[in-house]
Amino acid sequence: MIRISMSLPNKLLADFDEVLKDRGYQSRSKGIRDALQDYILRYQWMNEMEGQRVGVVTVIYDHHFSGVMEKLADIQHDYRQEISASMHIHMTRKYCMEVIIVNGEVTHIRDLTERMMRLKGVEHVKLTSTANGEKLDPTDTLEHDHDHSH
Ligand code: NI
Repeated sequence: MIRISMSLPNKLLADFDEVLKDRGYQSRSKGIRDALQDYILRYQWMNEMEGQRVGVVTVIYDHHFSGVMEKLADIQHDYRQEISASMHIHMTRKYCMEVIIVNGEVTHIRDLTERMMRLKGVEHVKLTSTANGEKLDPTDTLEHDHDHSH
């Protein structure tokens, strides 16, 4: 094993310790190892997705943070083909939540998600998605739409 040292904001560490306590972890190092493992898995999972997906991107950000709203809007305009709709919730005095419905090529959806994650002022970005049904329902044309004989 290799030892590393790192700087963390107080609050992040306090929140992390709280979770470790709730989950019965005896060791902070073990908690950090598991969290890293989880982070890596989630990234790999996201990268292995292929094809057409439909999903939801949830973004939580501090709207007081300079420029973040404009940058989020710019990014969404770049991916307007993949974005079906979005909703803005004024979550607290400080934080906003945006829920973005996406549908399209997963490589583009992933780029959109990652660009948002990299922004300062953005606290949380999560993509949940599933296959968008294009392959599930190849007969989904208007002609076949009225066949309810099941
Ligand atoms: Ni707001």
